[in-house]
Amino acid sequence: MSGLPRRLVLGIGGGIAAYKACELVRRLKERDVDVRVVMTAGAEHFLGAATLQALSGQPVRTSLWDASAEAAMSHIELARWADAILVAPASANVLARLAHGFADDLLTTLSLAASDRPLWLAPAMNRLMWAHPATQANVELLRARGAHVLGPASGEQACGEVGEGRMLEPEAIIAALSIFEAPQMLAGRRVLVSAGPTHEDLDPVRFLGNRSSGRMGFALAEAAAGMGAEVTLVAGPVALATPAGVDRIDVRSARQMHAAMLEHAPGMDVVIGAAAVADYRPEQRQTRKIKKQDDRFTVTLVRNPDILLDLAALSPRPYLAGFAAETEALEDNAQLKLQAKGLDLIAANLVGEGLGIETQDNAFSVFWRGGSTVLPRAPKTDLAVSLLRIVAGQLAAKGGRGT
Ligand code: PMT
Repeated sequence: MSGLPRRLVLGIGGGIAAYKACELVRRLKERDVDVRVVMTAGAEHFLGAATLQALSGQPVRTSLWDASAEAAMSHIELARWADAILVAPASANVLARLAHGFADDLLTTLSLAASDRPLWLAPAMNRLMWAHPATQANVELLRARGAHVLGPASGEQACGEVGEGRMLEPEAIIAALSIFEAPQMLAGRRVLVSAGPTHEDLDPVRFLGNRSSGRMGFALAEAAAGMGAEVTLVAGPVALATPAGVDRIDVRSARQMHAAMLEHAPGMDVVIGAAAVADYRPEQRQTRKIKKQDDRFTVTLVRNPDILLDLAALSPRPYLAGFAAETEALEDNAQLKLQAKGLDLIAANLVGEGLGIETQDNAFSVFWRGGSTVLPRAPKTDLAVSLLRIVAGQLAAKGGRGT
């Protein structure tokens, strides 16, 4: 249940980011997506068709006038075959030609012929080319016609400059595509997500923390936004980029996260607690760095407030989804937390030894009052969509906001 299109035409434009298309094809194939690659003339300067043919397991199309390929599958047939078109990288030239309806090569022609299918664009170019008013106007035109524009990201560029224009990483592109089968299921909904660890300071240089990377919560925020929700993400200290279209609030400690979540929860339809919140904090935060003294050093910890428990007391109360991170007795502990925290749903994951926390993949046992399901091991981006489908379904069944 990946939510990805089953049949995808991947158009590759000219640019150094074309090398990432190889990884993209590989990861799409791992998820059972049937990929047909179409390269522009520019892309052929950067990549060999043989590489992509080997990775996709299908002939690579490069020309509108390729007689043998035309006989097997014309641009019309290719357009009809595809569930969706993804162009990655989408160069400034490809964006301009798509925006203005050119049909002078296979990619632009089939994009016109497939204009009833979703079009996803992952731009990649030098930062000044991206910022140029002509490029921005082309992107706006494409967006206004319904194209999904993914990124670009900021950072160091192949040309040595730093700025906006890097193509999104393959996993981020796949995450965005994975809402294909769940479009707009959360349209009109407001969703609040917590993600990442909290850091509880001992002194100006030391803290108590945990291994949460924030990936699970960020994947949920990204998927919820892709499914049409207005999303606010309260993030502990993590090194992740903000997903497109998501409002982000950065916090450090459990008490800061508690304050931010309680401030933003009123008016939300759904609140999801994916953060690994510290249950305890040092009773005292020293203002100066603690010096080495005796062999033993004792720190007194005090309880932090329970964010989900306090959210459950709101009236009206949003739909509340929590997580249970366990190393044993997954179901028993999850059921206890579902009841004790007054949740509508809980996603239980085993953590440690390469699972759940810090990892790219996860697996859930999901429980709600009167039901349960298992979401088997998958990338967190895919699981986020699957979990949100369940949430959206329950929300629709309830017919509105919380209880
Ligand atoms: O960030 P990643 O590396 O991607 O890892 C993902 C994850 C393992 C952190 C995530 O999937 C997860 O399980 N998050 C919850 C971790 C956790 O704190 O679990 P818990 O069983 O201790 O807490 C139960 C629930 O209560 C959680 O929803 C938690 O957000 C919430 N909680 C906990 C403590 C507290 N003071 N307030 C809370 O609201």
